Amino acid sequence: MGRCCFYTVGTLSLLLLVTSVTLLVARVFQKAVDQTIEKNIVLRNGSETFDSWKKPPLPVYAQFYFFNVTNPEEILRGETPRLEEVGPYTYRELRSKADIQFGDNGTTISAVNNKAYVFERNQSVGDPKVDLIRTLNIPAVTAMEWAQLRFLRELIEALLKAYQQTLFVTHTVDELLWGYKDEILSLISVFKPEISPYFGLYYGKNGTNDGDYVFLTGEDNYLDFTKIVEWNGKTSVYITFSDFESVQGLPAFRYKVPGEVLANTSDNAGFCIPKGNCLGSGVLNISICKNGAPIILSFPHFYQADERFVSAIDGMHPNKDYHETFVDINPLTGIILRAAKRIQINVYVRKFDDFVETGSIRTMVFPVMYINESVLIDKETASQLKSVINTTLIITNIPYIIMALGVLFGLIFTWLACRGQGSMDEGTADERAPLIRT
Ligand SMILES: *[C@@H]1O[C@H](CO)[C@@H](O)[C@H](O)[C@H]1NC(C)=O
Ligand SMILES: *[C@@H]1O[C@H](CO)[C@@H](O)[C@H](O)[C@H]1NC(C)=O
Ligand SMILES: *[C@@H]1O[C@H](CO)[C@@H](O)[C@H](O)[C@H]1NC(C)=O
Ligand SMILES: *[C@@H]1O[C@H](CO)[C@@H](O)[C@H](O)[C@H]1NC(C)=O
Ligand SMILES: *[C@@H]1O[C@H](CO)[C@@H](O)[C@H](O)[C@H]1NC(C)=O
Ligand SMILES: *[C@@H]1O[C@H](CO)[C@@H](O)[C@H](O)[C@H]1NC(C)=O
Ligand SMILES: *[C@@H]1O[C@H](CO)[C@@H](O)[C@H](O)[C@H]1NC(C)=O
Ligand SMILES: *[C@@H]1O[C@H](CO)[C@@H](O)[C@H](O)[C@H]1NC(C)=O
Repeated sequence: MGRCCFYTVGTLSLLLLVTSVTLLVARVFQKAVDQTIEKNIVLRNGSETFDSWKKPPLPVYAQFYFFNVTNPEEILRGETPRLEEVGPYTYRELRSKADIQFGDNGTTISAVNNKAYVFERNQSVGDPKVDLIRTLNIPAVTAMEWAQLRFLRELIEALLKAYQQTLFVTHTVDELLWGYKDEILSLISVFKPEISPYFGLYYGKNGTNDGDYVFLTGEDNYLDFTKIVEWNGKTSVYITFSDFESVQGLPAFRYKVPGEVLANTSDNAGFCIPKGNCLGSGVLNISICKNGAPIILSFPHFYQADERFVSAIDGMHPNKDYHETFVDINPLTGIILRAAKRIQINVYVRKFDDFVETGSIRTMVFPVMYINESVLIDKETASQLKSVINTTLIITNIPYIIMALGVLFGLIFTWLACRGQGSMDEGTADERAPLIRT
């Protein structure tokens, strides 16, 4: 064992240790990885993320569930409605962004989100063109509400009398979603051309967009990427971190819409319309956006809403797993792995003395339909992402590997040193021995 080798091992060990500590302190590899991710994630014209944001590659499904009314006569006598959930009727959403504009300083991007819906028979319970649903006569209820506001009052009263409208009507799923020509609305539109003769919960929404969205580009903080900051100029709902999940073997942070979003608090004063007129927690009056139709939004089955909404209807079974709205995001890349947006459309009904059609119905928030709009990363994309994540893990661990090598050489060095010391001791002993003997 040469002296040279001994010193080489020592120097190497020291060098490796110093290098690894320097790399760790300067976070060289961590920074490189962060920069690479950031470059990919930030929505810049031409980046990979930009292309997949413009035309998302993962399929988004819209699943509709209707509440079929089983006891219309009893409801009109003032009894509790018994509703039967029917669904899903699944449509694949074809999404694309149009009118893309970057904000002045690169932190925002605005676009409209065009959506077309294509029916998926394989993932549905039946044929929407055939299946019948009995539900509230929403055009008639809307007309009655208009009459209360003295809007076309005489006309509406005369029309409802002449055309013998019933409070509950039966239509196909297709008509309820995509629109049918309503008798009353047609006649009203003769006098008020701005009112459409058609009614449908998603009428006119196929192949169109629902207004201006503004997105962050993530230029400031890449985890903000595609968080919707504004919608039609109004602040949109926010999401908060809730727990850790695993999606197709990838780690994810789950973000949820907190219950307080629809709570009856002073912060949500905008939800109490008119001012001070709060319906209660978990429901949102959007009548003003719907031309005066008494439409109330909630989570499906009144999840996270006041217990009294649930108990007013037979057939409501709120369940966290099935009815919450959430987004699962991979923390390293900021990529959405799974998401579900679940919203229920209800109608506010009450007895009107001047409209016999309402019988002695109780005042209530009446569920009509809910939608589950969901996306899930496919296995192939997930495994691609997994290999990217593993590579970054290896890269960020390079300093530790160098450090481990340094420690290894250090141990060899110590061992060599001890052995060298040992042989020296032996040597002296050998030299001393004859002295003692003599
Ligand atoms: C992105 O860049 C392309 C070509 O460089 C250009 O044609 C396009 O208008 C740009 N898009 C936006 C939204 O600026
Ligand atoms: C960039 O735009 C955002 C949002 O419009 C604004 O809050 C921010 O102050 C702007 N920053 C600069 C440097 O102009
Ligand atoms: C929506 O529009 C697309 C394309 O125009 C069409 O293929 C699809 O059948 C329409 N969906 C419905 C529900 O009408
Ligand atoms: C529906 O399922 C059948 C058989 O299970 C299959 O042959 C067909 O390709 C599927 N169609 C779609 C659109 O997925
Ligand atoms: C909904 O209820 C009506 C009336 O009872 C019935 O005719 C119809 O078949 C039901 N629809 C479904 C999809 O079960
Ligand atoms: C809403 O909250 C206010 C004050 O917190 C309370 O007085 C009121 O009764 C609540 N309204 C409903 C419908 O729960
Ligand atoms: C919903 O809001 C409208 C005004 O936007 C109001 O006239 C109506 O009374 C509200 N409905 C309920 C049930 O509070
Ligand atoms: C969407 O939500 C409904 C109701 O909670 C559930 O039955 C369905 O499986 C969900 N769909 C997907 C694709 O997760």
